[in-house]
Amino acid sequence: MTRPSHPPDLTRANTQHREPVESSAPPRHAPTILVTGAAGNVGGIGRTLTKLLLDKGHRVRAMVRRQDERAEALAALGAEVMVGDLLDLESMHAAIEGCERVYFGMSVSASYLEATVNAAAVARHHGVEAFVNMSQMTVSQMSITETTPSPQHKQHWLAEQALNWSGLPVVHVRPTVFLEGFFLQFCAPALRRSNVISLPMGDGRTSPISAADVARAVAAILDEPAPHIGRVYDLAGPRSETMAFYAGEFSEALGRSITYEDVAPEAWRDRLAAWGLPPHLVAHVTTMAALNRQNRYDRTSDDMVTLTGAPAMSLREFVRRHASAYALSA
Ligand SMILES: NC(=O)c1ccc[n+]([C@@H]2O[C@H](COP(=O)([O-])OP(=O)(O)OC[C@H]3O[C@@H](n4cnc5c(N)ncnc54)[C@H](OP(=O)(O)O)[C@@H]3O)[C@@H](O)[C@H]2O)c1
Repeated sequence: MTRPSHPPDLTRANTQHREPVESSAPPRHAPTILVTGAAGNVGGIGRTLTKLLLDKGHRVRAMVRRQDERAEALAALGAEVMVGDLLDLESMHAAIEGCERVYFGMSVSASYLEATVNAAAVARHHGVEAFVNMSQMTVSQMSITETTPSPQHKQHWLAEQALNWSGLPVVHVRPTVFLEGFFLQFCAPALRRSNVISLPMGDGRTSPISAADVARAVAAILDEPAPHIGRVYDLAGPRSETMAFYAGEFSEALGRSITYEDVAPEAWRDRLAAWGLPPHLVAHVTTMAALNRQNRYDRTSDDMVTLTGAPAMSLREFVRRHASAYALSA
């Protein structure tokens, strides 16, 4: 087994294609859209979404947790940046008041459900016309009698229930696994060292999707939300294949031979703990791997094409675009 000697860089993904945008003032009638989690960490949906909505001519209020260079980059794009905590009532009034539409998303965390309900309660108070909720595709396999060992899955399922009870004009977006996590941050260190994809996915098939494509789908919904209210969208990559197949795709994209090494679940859990990831995230990511081994991520959906008119990018294309992150260590 190849063991990474250092943790993945949790801020590295998605920083590569940040291009400055010349923002022109939106028309007077343009609705203001709140984008939460806008600084971006793993998938960076909020950051990409902010840019896409500004490009479409909307006013965007980008909510971040702290004032840093990521916040400055959002302001440079033309967003109204506000600093606040999704768990804080006052922050959420400041964030939502004056916004007609809301995108709710935040990084995987133990307080996800509380943050969702906090945002929803305030959105109800201010009477928004659309509340787009970031969820997960595994929720499609859950019910009042079926759950998973992941506390994040459970919170997403409960969050969807609470939002449905709320009477808010809700749209749920349920992507499958992101390319930016397992296929970039988690696998790049070993791949850079030894041309090996070292992951605990077993022989299960999976259809990973780029968070950049998820942001495109969310932007399409927020651009014209009315026909989407009450709907649930499952988002998946263009094909569902095994890790052996994807090793071949990595090889094609990078022009060198890449192989897949299956990591035992216990060794994977130890590796995550050694990287210093919080227990909530370790439990979630470990569950994702276990479900993948059971072939529970073998999923397809046409919803990406329905929403945007185009399929999500392939893994091969994603790897090509992020080639520098997989470059062999000197
Ligand atoms: N990764 C996957 O494979 C996958 C698959 C399907 C669905 N999802 C879902 O996608 C969502 C994550 O999306 P993402 O990757 O785009 O998120 P992300 O970039 O990892 O995080 C978004 C932002 O949330 C902010 N945040 C966290 N706690 C906050 C708080 N209390 N108040 C204010 N801001 C807070 C973080 O701020 P800081 O950076 O400042 O900490 C971060 O920038 C989750 O709902 C996850 O379940 C993920």
